[in-house]
Amino acid sequence: MKVPPQIVRLLIVTVVLVGSYFVAKSLLTPPTFGELGWYRAAALEELAQHKLTYAGKQECEVCHDDIWQMFHAGKHQTLSCEGCHGPAMRHVDDPENEHLLKPGSDQCLRCHQQNPSRPDWYTQIDPEEHLEGECIECHIPHNPTEMPEEEEASSEQ
Ligand code: HEC
Ligand code: HEC
Ligand code: HEC
Ligand code: HEC
Repeated sequence: MKVPPQIVRLLIVTVVLVGSYFVAKSLLTPPTFGELGWYRAAALEELAQHKLTYAGKQECEVCHDDIWQMFHAGKHQTLSCEGCHGPAMRHVDDPENEHLLKPGSDQCLRCHQQNPSRPDWYTQIDPEEHLEGECIECHIPHNPTEMPEEEEASSEQ
């Protein structure tokens, strides 16, 4: 039986299309793709090479035991140290030379500014109506319901 010429042309077009798909696939697929799954296996190693910048809260206890104790007796105990002080990995490795941010009252309103979208249990203030002055003149940031004055009063004696 003779194959009709229009079928032959159709077959050629099909072979060219399917063939170019396989050629393109072999050229464009990155090496190591699919070794472990639908991603580049080499990406795991690349990601693992990123330098760590956050040390994690647990690291601070060893050297800042006093602040640690005070912090966990107070209402800020669930917060992360680095949330206010910034990434601390370099500081943990070399505290004498790598200094951290010592924030001021600017941090406080980030979390305590009155905002109707915050839940009721989350204590919020209206800075216009709350007592005037720097927040940390009246609140110890590591135990915010304590007032620094008491400390000063006892050290003056
Ligand atoms: C709510 C924000 C906040 C959090 C959370 C926080 N800090 Fe602080 N920290 C401050 C502020 C503000 C100061 C500066 C206080 C000042 O100048 O009187 C400070 C100062 C310090 C200092 C310097 C103390 C000094 O006398 O010079 C150390 C050390 C410190 N923090 C460690 C920690 C550790 C460790 C944690 C976690 C257990 C932590 N901080 C969590 C806000 C915070
Ligand atoms: C290996 C001990 C060590 C560890 C771990 C450590 N610190 Fe410190 N930190 C120090 C020393 C020492 C200083 C005082 C440095 C100075 O005055 O030169 C200091 C100072 C600070 C200060 C005051 C600002 C500055 O950099 O001088 C802050 C804030 C602070 N540390 C926060 C932290 C936090 C948050 C962590 C946990 C992520 C942490 N530290 C972990 C030893 C340590
Ligand atoms: C990262 C968010 C965050 C930051 C920054 C922060 N706080 Fe808080 N604060 C909290 C949470 C969470 C609580 C516990 C829930 C509560 O009591 O509202 C709390 C509790 C408090 C309380 C106790 C409220 C009560 O229950 O009577 C005071 C006071 C306070 N913070 C003051 C401050 C001051 C002053 C600063 C700045 C040095 C500050 N906070 C920074 C999250 C934050
Ligand atoms: C002059 C001292 C003073 C200053 C400055 C001050 N506070 Fe207070 N704050 C207090 C006292 C005292 C209380 C407890 C009595 C009260 O609720 O008014 C308090 C209570 C709070 C509470 C708990 C409110 C509640 O409803 O339970 C939060 C949160 C707070 N302050 C955050 C801040 C922040 C944030 C700043 C800076 C923008 C700040 N404070 C500045 C003295 C001060």
